[in-house]
Amino acid sequence: MSTPNTVDTGTGLGEIERDAERVDVGDKAMINARADVNQLLPLKYTWAWEKYLAGCNNHWMPTEVAMQADIALWRSADGLTDDERLMLKRNLGFFATAESLVANNIVLAVYRQLTNPECRQYLLRQAFEEAVHTHTFQYICESLGLDEGELFNMYREVPSITAKDSWALRYTQNLEDPEFSTGTPEADQAFLRDLIAFYVIFEGMWFYTGFAQILSLGRRNKMVGIAEQYQYILRDESIHLNFGIDVINQIKVENPHLWSEEFQAEVRQMLVEGCELEVAYGRETMPRGVLGLNAELCETYMRFITDRRAEQIGLAPIFGETENPFPWMSEVMDLQKEKNFFETRVIEYQSGGGLDWD
Ligand SMILES: [Fe+2]
Ligand SMILES: [Fe+2]
Repeated sequence: MSTPNTVDTGTGLGEIERDAERVDVGDKAMINARADVNQLLPLKYTWAWEKYLAGCNNHWMPTEVAMQADIALWRSADGLTDDERLMLKRNLGFFATAESLVANNIVLAVYRQLTNPECRQYLLRQAFEEAVHTHTFQYICESLGLDEGELFNMYREVPSITAKDSWALRYTQNLEDPEFSTGTPEADQAFLRDLIAFYVIFEGMWFYTGFAQILSLGRRNKMVGIAEQYQYILRDESIHLNFGIDVINQIKVENPHLWSEEFQAEVRQMLVEGCELEVAYGRETMPRGVLGLNAELCETYMRFITDRRAEQIGLAPIFGETENPFPWMSEVMDLQKEKNFFETRVIEYQSGGGLDWD
């Protein structure tokens, strides 16, 4: 809590310091900042502002995507194999609540501890995008006439989904105590762990098997509406991931004592666990595999992605996996200004900058 004549270093909702100096950009910091968090300008972290602008430029809504082809295929007795149906349902079941878990972590844990207004500006945009993503699963559920309870309760019923979500929740639960605040090395590291668990592992690793599964169907001209929506989600998520990585790396630069050998070893172990949890999820969504995709390929892909994430936060590769079994995923992600990849989108925004995977 702020008291008179002290600068509010917390939420931004403390007493107004009537006689405080104007904001010195040098006082702005990712965590434990002394500068007023209510004043966006002067900007310090232009990368955060640019990601906010990029997010706004990528605006989309799931309801703009035509679902007729998906509905027809879903209803047709021989449109999808049983294995494809199982994969699709468990994929949707994971994302249906994952988007809410990510959103709740941003709004209820991360936002409070990041003491920088341009980063908070991005978090507000990201939080809305997570709402759009949750909306996507509501829209898919409604369009295909799926069982709402089956889809949205899957994170309590399918063991590999429960395992992933409970693993991540441990890290946000550490911050849930209303008395929690950064400012000690232990608390600052707890916050970093939460950022790594959610941005690097949850959004940066666990979403990618799911993207590969749906985009693989889309490439075979199946469930093209959902595939189109996943393309837009993937575009959003690639910015979420890059924002998280920039935040983590900037906190490391400003607080090098937090990134100790011991802590790095712990983070590597988190990445290993994240990879194992995802491999188990791959097996449970594809017990027999489908055309062009199976649990073994997804395991190789996840090891490849894990190494990439390790590198992005300054760690040596964990698995040394050099083979990317889904090179077409990078092609999809590299698509520039290719608006109608699956040609299902019915509305285009004037402000939309086109697909820019960043
Ligand atoms: Fe999302
Ligand atoms: Fe996200």
